Amino acid sequence: LNRAGFPDGFTFGTAASAYQVEGMALKDGRGPSIWDVFVHVPGNIANNATADRAVDEYHRYKGDINIMKKMNFDAYRFSISWSRIFPDGTGKVNWKGVAYYNRLINYMIRRGITPYANLYHYDLPATLEKKYMGLLSHRVVKDYADYADFCFKTFGDRVKHWMTFNEPRVVAALGYDEGSFAPARCTNCSAGGNSATEPYIVAHNLILSHAAAVKRYREKYQATQKGRIGILLDFVWYEPLSNSTDDQAAAQRARDFHIGWFLHPVIYGEYPKSLQEIVNERLPKFTPNEVQMVKGSIDFVGINQYTAYYMYDPHVPKQAKSTSYALDWRVGFAFDRNGVPIGPQANSKWLYIVPWGMYKAVTYVKENYGNPTIILSENGMDDPGNITMPAGLHDTTRLNYYKSYISELKKAIDDGANVIAYFAWSLLDNFEWKSGYTSRFGLVYVDFKSLKRHPKMSAYWFRHMLERKKKN
Ligand code: GCO
Repeated sequence: LNRAGFPDGFTFGTAASAYQVEGMALKDGRGPSIWDVFVHVPGNIANNATADRAVDEYHRYKGDINIMKKMNFDAYRFSISWSRIFPDGTGKVNWKGVAYYNRLINYMIRRGITPYANLYHYDLPATLEKKYMGLLSHRVVKDYADYADFCFKTFGDRVKHWMTFNEPRVVAALGYDEGSFAPARCTNCSAGGNSATEPYIVAHNLILSHAAAVKRYREKYQATQKGRIGILLDFVWYEPLSNSTDDQAAAQRARDFHIGWFLHPVIYGEYPKSLQEIVNERLPKFTPNEVQMVKGSIDFVGINQYTAYYMYDPHVPKQAKSTSYALDWRVGFAFDRNGVPIGPQANSKWLYIVPWGMYKAVTYVKENYGNPTIILSENGMDDPGNITMPAGLHDTTRLNYYKSYISELKKAIDDGANVIAYFAWSLLDNFEWKSGYTSRFGLVYVDFKSLKRHPKMSAYWFRHMLERKKKN
């Protein structure tokens, strides 16, 4: 496996998000996001960790970009913190925040690392949550579009790859159904909520916000700045447990409720048929004008691909009234077939190592969505947080994970998938949401006390794999 086997101009990078790496969470003028509020509630995060300091990329960005360069990466997918630019979500600009992203972007460019900027990675300004219940309100559409517009205007002379939202499904499902992510509204969560309706309302507002931002980009900036804009979707591959028609239908339903929920609208202008039928009157509708705006609102789709599960039909009788997004799927999850596990488990309970899922997920998008331009925007695995040094640097499991997943991606490309870039999650061990610092996804080990960076074996593997061979 070598970069030479990939199409000309193919980009390799690493990905991260503002809240997980920056630190300086409540400093230099940044306003709190809903995640700052969430992590400061005892019991929400493993060991009550916060991301107040995270891995301090705010100050260490140069060193981190130098590491990327050393590892022969071409690009960095980072995110902009909305409340670092607009502390209250709208109105007054925090120029210190703007200056930070200018420093970051300029240094990337100086070192030959292409910036891929994502505008939203879970971190809604807390003020908007208070003011109008954030993503539950249609008011967020305009506020988000204004924020995006400001970013295009300010950074778009240098940023040519924009992403509007990261994993909107996770935002809607974990924030408003499961309750494990901010703002933790769900039927049984302290913040109240209604799992049968709120995830769909939030998803709808996210899609409209995305489309409104893309409209601004296309009308005001794209012709002169000549960039591209897309959205980032998480995609677990769902494999039918058996060949039965019911299990195949269950797996398809799962794909619809997982990726189709967002990909269908931004490509075809409507929700998948299965959602329309099952969620029915609880599913918000796009007006004819909105259909126009939403349909075709991506230049590329980002796919975050880590894992795969088996799906079966548990034959639960259809309820007269479903009480949650999760129940709407009516599917059973399975992690082995006849006693053979789907794959070994990483540290994260949700992460089974299933390389062939990569091929199937990418090929599925190619075949069902008109062969769109794809960015494989995240892929990776974690070790437990309590691994010791220097043994923890010998991450052979991660190295083999990357080798096998990237080989499967290459196979999908060789078979015609239009993938233009790949991003590993992540360069550094960092703040892993609910798990805090007990989960390490980095190619580079971070000592969370001293914040020193130590490349793991997988980082050297990338360095070698990405080397450009001199042509004779
Ligand atoms: C995302 C992911 C990342 C996670 C990574 C490992 O939304 O892109 O949640 O932020 O850190 O997927 O779990």
